[in-house]
Amino acid sequence: MQVVIRNTKKEATNLAAAIIARELRARPNLVLGLATGRTMEGLYARFVEMHEKEWLDFSLAVTFNLDEYIGLPPEHKGSYRYYMNKHLFNHVNIDMRNTHLPNGMARDIASECRHYEEQIRDYGGIDLQLLSIGASGHIGFNEPLSAMRSRTREKALTPQTIQQNSPLFERPGEMPRRAITMGVGTILEAERCLMLVTGETKAEVLAKAVEGPVTSMISATALQLHEHCTVIVDEEAASKLENQEYYHWIFENEPEWEEFRANMSM
Ligand code: GLP
Repeated sequence: MQVVIRNTKKEATNLAAAIIARELRARPNLVLGLATGRTMEGLYARFVEMHEKEWLDFSLAVTFNLDEYIGLPPEHKGSYRYYMNKHLFNHVNIDMRNTHLPNGMARDIASECRHYEEQIRDYGGIDLQLLSIGASGHIGFNEPLSAMRSRTREKALTPQTIQQNSPLFERPGEMPRRAITMGVGTILEAERCLMLVTGETKAEVLAKAVEGPVTSMISATALQLHEHCTVIVDEEAASKLENQEYYHWIFENEPEWEEFRANMSM
C-alpha cells in the first residue's frame, strides 16, 4: 500500500484523476471499477473536464460499479445508476452498453450477483478499482464482518451507513436498507486499487484502515493485503495518520511519482 497526501481535496482528486487518465490512455479498453458517493463527485467532474479539454477518451472503456441499492429502479434519483449517468456517463463518450451496475430490481438477487461476477470474469477482471471509504470503514457496501473472501452478494446496511447516506435521498426514510455489493474478495482481485479519501470526518476511520490491524470489522483494512493499492488523501483526512512524514518522503523520492510531482499545479 502507498499513501499519498496532498494539501487540498482538489489536489488529491486531481492526482487520482491523473493516475486513472494515464492508465486509460495506455490501455483504452481499460476495465475500470467505479465507486459512488460525495467524494467521487469531484473526480467525475474532473474526468468530464479532461474529456472535454484534453481528449480523454472513454469510447472503449468498460466499467463495473461496486454496488447498487436493492429496490431502486435506474431512474430513481437515489440509485447509483442515476448517480453515474448524472455525474459521468452522460457527459463523456462512453458506450452505455459497456457500463455495468448490479441490478437492484432483479427478482432473483442471488442469481444477479452470480451473473455480475461472471460478467467481470468475462472481461478478464477489473484492471483498476476506484474506491472510497464509508464511515463504518466499508468499501463498496461491505459492512463490518464482511468476509475477506466475500463475493458479490446482498448485504444489509448498518445504521451508521443509513445515517451517512440518508441525506442523499429526497425524503427521510426513502433510503433502502439493503444493497448488492461486490465482495471484499472481488475487490482484492482487481489488478490495482485506488482509494480516494478526503475531509476531516474520514480521518479516524482512514487511520484505522491504513495503519490499524487487518480486520473484517473494517473492510477497508483488507486493502493492506493488496499488492498494488494506492491511497490518495487530503491533509484533513490524513490528520490522524501516524506516519505522515514517511508517506511524504515516499512521494518525494520514489521514481514512480516523478511525473506526477512534476505537475505540482495539479
Ligand atoms: C457509499 C458507497 C461507498 C463509498 C461511500 C463514501 O456508501 N457504497 O462505496 O465509499 O459511499 O461516501 P462519501 O464519499 O459520500 O463519504
